[in-house]
Amino acid sequence: MRRRVILLGPPGSGKGTVAARLKNECGFDHFSTGHWLRQEVARGSALGRQAGLFLERGELVPDEVVLALVKDALSNAQPDLGYLSDGFPRTLAQAQAFDAWSSPRGLGIEQVIYFECSEALVLNRITGRRSCGSCGRVYHVTLVPPGQPGRCDDCAGELTQRADDTESVVRKRFKIYLRETEPLIDFYRQQAKLDVVNASQPVDVMMSQTMSLLQR
Ligand code: AP5
Repeated sequence: MRRRVILLGPPGSGKGTVAARLKNECGFDHFSTGHWLRQEVARGSALGRQAGLFLERGELVPDEVVLALVKDALSNAQPDLGYLSDGFPRTLAQAQAFDAWSSPRGLGIEQVIYFECSEALVLNRITGRRSCGSCGRVYHVTLVPPGQPGRCDDCAGELTQRADDTESVVRKRFKIYLRETEPLIDFYRQQAKLDVVNASQPVDVMMSQTMSLLQR
């Protein structure tokens, strides 16, 4: 199985949902730059204060801030470490800078799985998303509901809606995705690293297709 993998796709395509399952079921070391940034905002750190406004508006945090976060997290990693990234890189500048930094360290990306999904589907999924404030598990009010409304199945934590999950902010995030992140599809296709999953399918189907691609 390949070990250094990027999940690429629009907001709401299911990257976080599939990544969490791959982590639990296959032991992947999963990281999400969005999750790290929200943690910094919640902590009220200097980085969180800098990034908070970008997140709230649905805009991308500057490349240098995100690159510094990722490099810092991987700086002590042994060559050949495995990872599963959800949400990074998401601009060409991030992808190029990360390639240049990670390849000589034996940490280069081996495979990119692109979750293809329409704007209409994304909108429905994201506006119904609820996340556990304690463990971070993600649900959807109708598509992936918890056993007890408003409570996490795993830890009974309270389920809340992300501040950037309103319809207007999601539409903006999708536009930014098309402009900034979609060019990465060709970038990784040219490197012969890209595989595609139809993300409009149920979670279990997405999951089994992703697993098959990882085992190729
Ligand atoms: P981030 O947290 O990365 O958000 P995102 O990419 O916008 O993606 P989402 O988390 O919204 O969606 P997802 O694909 O993970 O979907 P999920 O599995 O939750 O980034 C947030 C912000 O941080 C950015 O806007 C930016 O400001 C900043 N940021 C982060 N990284 C950055 C970077 N590299 N550079 C610059 N800025 C950065 O699923 C969504 C919903 O659908 C859930 O309710 C789920 O239950 C449901 N669902 C999922 N799959 C299915 C399915 N197959 N069938 C039915 N329901 C499903």
